Amino acid sequence: MKIPDDVLAVLADPRVVIDGDRVQIPFELDRPLYDRVDRILKEVGGRWDGRKKVRAHVFGHQVEEFMRQAIASAEFPSRYEQGWYPSPPAVVEQILQHAGISDHRPGLTVLEPSAGTGCIAGPAAARGALVDVVEIDARRVEVLRRAGFARRVVHGDFLTDLHPLDYPEGFSRVVMNPPFADAVAHVQHALGFLSDDAVLVSVMPEYVLWRTDLATKRFRWLVEGNDGEFVYLPRDAFEPSGVIFPAVLAVVPTGHDGCTIRNHGWHRRYPKQQYELFAL
Ligand SMILES: C[S@@+](CC[C@H](N)C(=O)[O-])C[C@H]1O[C@@H](n2cnc3c(N)ncnc32)[C@H](O)[C@@H]1O
Repeated sequence: MKIPDDVLAVLADPRVVIDGDRVQIPFELDRPLYDRVDRILKEVGGRWDGRKKVRAHVFGHQVEEFMRQAIASAEFPSRYEQGWYPSPPAVVEQILQHAGISDHRPGLTVLEPSAGTGCIAGPAAARGALVDVVEIDARRVEVLRRAGFARRVVHGDFLTDLHPLDYPEGFSRVVMNPPFADAVAHVQHALGFLSDDAVLVSVMPEYVLWRTDLATKRFRWLVEGNDGEFVYLPRDAFEPSGVIFPAVLAVVPTGHDGCTIRNHGWHRRYPKQQYELFAL
């Protein structure tokens, strides 16, 4: 949800104290503006604590990272807007570890196909990876462009606007936290961008482990049949982003014998027209 300009100006004021689990505004606002700031802080999970020694909006979790992302993008996550839940630093750390993205291996080519404001992509680039990002939301694209860490920023719908062969080479890593409503479709599509000895690591809703619809079952078989694994995240892993949902990491490699993943190499061997023609 967009943060109105006047509320944003208040939250970004350097006098505002954002510390630990609380946001404190130590200066006077006129009543209507105060009410708007108060409403937004409550919508994102804050609770006004008027006790003299507190006088702050208090959250049930650490709020610095959440507020930093919200202020940078002038919006806060809403489940109704493309499922924007920024990955908290502890989750990012796990993703990068499973993907083997580290200072010791600079130069890996990395795709983040639903990049948000770059919570995963930024730290990957900081470890020496060459990172390309895709994001559907214009405001978050602006944040990514301003941050300047990505080799290429594409503003578009990853599912419909981007085809693996838009990139001459595959990527050695794909790291992602796609919108949960469409997570399986996003990850399936992203597998097509992996080169031959590559790894995809994605946050996914935990239900991919047990849902019985055909698309989810096929996805599970694909991961498990290709030396992949699902790693549980702590239940409160996304609390810093203001939500609690059970999630896992899907870790999918392509470098093994008998790999059945339709990766970048597969798309090169079966160009789009050919496999559409024969509905492979
Ligand atoms: C759960 S958030 C995660 C953002 C980022 N990956 C992170 O971990 O912080 C999902 C992001 O995907 C973006 N998104 C949703 N649908 C998309 C699509 N079809 N193509 C590209 N990005 C999309 C949303 O705008 C949102 O920023």
